[in-house]
Amino acid sequence: MKALVLSGGAGTRLRPITHTSAKQLVPVANKAVLFYGLESIAAAGITDVGMIVGDTAAEIQEAVGDGSKFGLEITYIPQERPLGLAHAVLIAQDYLGDDDFVMYLGDNFIVGGITGLVDEFRTHRPDAQILLTRVPDPRAFGVAELDPQGQVISLEEKPENPKSDLALVGVYLFTSAIHEAVRSIEPSWRGELEITHAIQHLIDVHSDVRSTVIQGYWKDTGNVADMLEVNRRVLETMNRRIDGEVDDKSETVGRVIVEEGARIVGSRVVGPVIIGAGTLVSDSYVGPFTSIAENCRITDSEVEFSIVLRNSSIDGVGRIESSLIGRHVEVTPAPNVPSAHRLVLGDHSKVQIHT
Ligand code: G1P
Repeated sequence: MKALVLSGGAGTRLRPITHTSAKQLVPVANKAVLFYGLESIAAAGITDVGMIVGDTAAEIQEAVGDGSKFGLEITYIPQERPLGLAHAVLIAQDYLGDDDFVMYLGDNFIVGGITGLVDEFRTHRPDAQILLTRVPDPRAFGVAELDPQGQVISLEEKPENPKSDLALVGVYLFTSAIHEAVRSIEPSWRGELEITHAIQHLIDVHSDVRSTVIQGYWKDTGNVADMLEVNRRVLETMNRRIDGEVDDKSETVGRVIVEEGARIVGSRVVGPVIIGAGTLVSDSYVGPFTSIAENCRITDSEVEFSIVLRNSSIDGVGRIESSLIGRHVEVTPAPNVPSAHRLVLGDHSKVQIHT
């Protein structure tokens, strides 16, 4: 069995973070979303991975390399333009051959991995197996309609009036039956060859399409609250580990990870928290559910329930909560007079100011 991992696409939903970075590399608990996917593929006993890449190919390749650090053998397959998930299967056909495969969207996060699902698929080998999860607003997803026995009746891509709240999760298991299906469909209104339509085609020709409803799912819907929530859930599963320096004026409480080369000076850190390598936390408080990436500086400030990406600094600004802060960002106090906010914000930024 092989895996086909999709790591192209523009990432419009997570702007401004994805203006400058591939959406699959957005970190959760200081690790790229994509890496969790690759680790779960390796854990399911799959080693051959075809990786579809687009405009951000260089960045993805730099981060993932040949896959050996995950125990994988990765073959990069360039997709000229984001022409759809079924198009990705189409261009990967030579690579996939007649093998069964799991198709994994690199911006999806499945809590608990995919080993159980892959094992189930290997046992029963239906033509296709899809994953579903209940979401509050299914209009941003493919949506499945099930009959009372749980059989999939129909699938629709981003419907205006969804027939259920069961969204298609971005992990699909296929036999080679999918290849004929992706050749049979036409582009959708958004100009993409939709995998949803290819699976509908399988249903129409009475292939065996099974579904499993899962919990513990996240994707980049652009909703920062969701991202903070998945960060929280992952941090909660991590064990305390202090590899960096904590001076004797500091206190670390509970599940705190201080990576090697990080320094905690005169500060209080209450877990679950991760502090990345090379980061300095000085005269500050870092509170629960916070991920601070590598080479940041937090001085004379308080940060809680937030994500701070690498090379950023927060100096002397009081308390920051529920925030997502990008790379190379500087947060500093304004001069005392005039009493005003001074902002340099990139496109699509969002700021909430306490007045
Ligand atoms: C794609 C699929 C959609 C699925 C979603 C899951 O949407 O087309 O059916 O629910 O992935 O991530 P896209 O991310 O291309 O908007």
